[in-house]
Amino acid sequence: MTDFVLKSDIAEIAESLSDCAHGFAGKTVMLTGGRGFLGRYFMDVFARLNETVLKKPCELIVLDNLITAGKEGAVIPDAPHVEFIKHDVAKPLKMKRKIDYVIHAAGIASPFYYRAYPLETLEVAVAGTRHMLELAEKNQARFVFFSSSEIYGDPDPKHVPTPESYRGNVSCQGPRACYDESKRLGETLCYVFHEMNGVKTNTIRPFNVFGPGMQETDYRAMPNFASRIKAGKPLSIYGTGDQTRTFCYITDAMAGFLRVVLLGVPGEAYNIGNPKPEVSMLDLISRMEKVLGRKVDYNVIEYPDSYPADEPQRRCPDIRKAMLQIKYKPTVDLDEGMRRFFSWTDKAYAGET
Ligand SMILES: NC(=O)c1ccc[n+]([C@@H]2O[C@H](COP(=O)([O-])OP(=O)(O)OC[C@H]3O[C@@H](n4cnc5c(N)ncnc54)[C@H](O)[C@@H]3O)[C@@H](O)[C@H]2O)c1
Repeated sequence: MTDFVLKSDIAEIAESLSDCAHGFAGKTVMLTGGRGFLGRYFMDVFARLNETVLKKPCELIVLDNLITAGKEGAVIPDAPHVEFIKHDVAKPLKMKRKIDYVIHAAGIASPFYYRAYPLETLEVAVAGTRHMLELAEKNQARFVFFSSSEIYGDPDPKHVPTPESYRGNVSCQGPRACYDESKRLGETLCYVFHEMNGVKTNTIRPFNVFGPGMQETDYRAMPNFASRIKAGKPLSIYGTGDQTRTFCYITDAMAGFLRVVLLGVPGEAYNIGNPKPEVSMLDLISRMEKVLGRKVDYNVIEYPDSYPADEPQRRCPDIRKAMLQIKYKPTVDLDEGMRRFFSWTDKAYAGET
């Protein structure tokens, strides 16, 4: 197990799957993006399940081209039941081993990085998804695609909390389009392979997951704030600070993702997040001050060139479908999640950004 995460969190995730994890016994899982934030959790959770729960171990094949894996991701652990292949999933892959599950989590997820790599962002979600779907079809494997809450764009407030049936309000031109639109097309590919070719596909739409293990140079809100707090620098809030988000702690999110992989109804998309509380960026800072027990300085500024403007004003998931169909239930509240995250960043971050 890596020391980038909390061992107690990995144990908590594995425990929450006690009713269904046996579905992985003796199976082979192909995981793309396995050296990213979520991918490294998948690796640690599978290692823990192998050690504690599964009668026959689950074999893991991990693909990553390391484009945004950072220094933590670039260190490949020499772990039992894991084969790592450095590969760009936008290119075809020949694989002789039989695969039972494909978890396609490769992507360029941070707005800072998709602004820097728009074509790579598009390719991994479109060409990458197609190649992985073809592999799943050939192996009659279950396929899970990591889409995003961003496919809803800037939702009409009438549709917040946002259910999976909401069709979105997305621009095909603009600084975010390479991400939103390619994730939408990735979902369409899943739909086509499910409807026409009979592949058992699921789509996951995560809503702002955070936790230990996020790279300091990730530039998503939580790690960015934590790094600046560590450095004693004021936080930068872009736009007005009134835009809202919900944040889902990593243990809840991972339990939800793995429940989709094991129990998702073929063809369906699932929101995975924590709908409460929906907070503005300014509210988030007040909550952080309470959790940290001290004042946090910040400035409200214009969007810098490095960060895509045109961001959604509100984002909050309706998770009733996942609660009903796969028994997903987030349990870690925002303050407790921040407490765990900031006590980890306090030791792990250098205050670099
Ligand atoms: N973490 C979240 O809150 C969140 C929210 C919405 C969607 N998602 C989606 O979930 C997935 C995982 O997110 P994450 O937070 O772990 O992101 P991440 O950026 O930390 O990790 C993604 C990994 O994919 C790899 N990758 C990118 N392009 C690749 C390619 N062409 N071939 C092989 N590997 C490639 C990167 O090197 C990186 O290691 C992504 O697809 C992301 O879009 C995550």
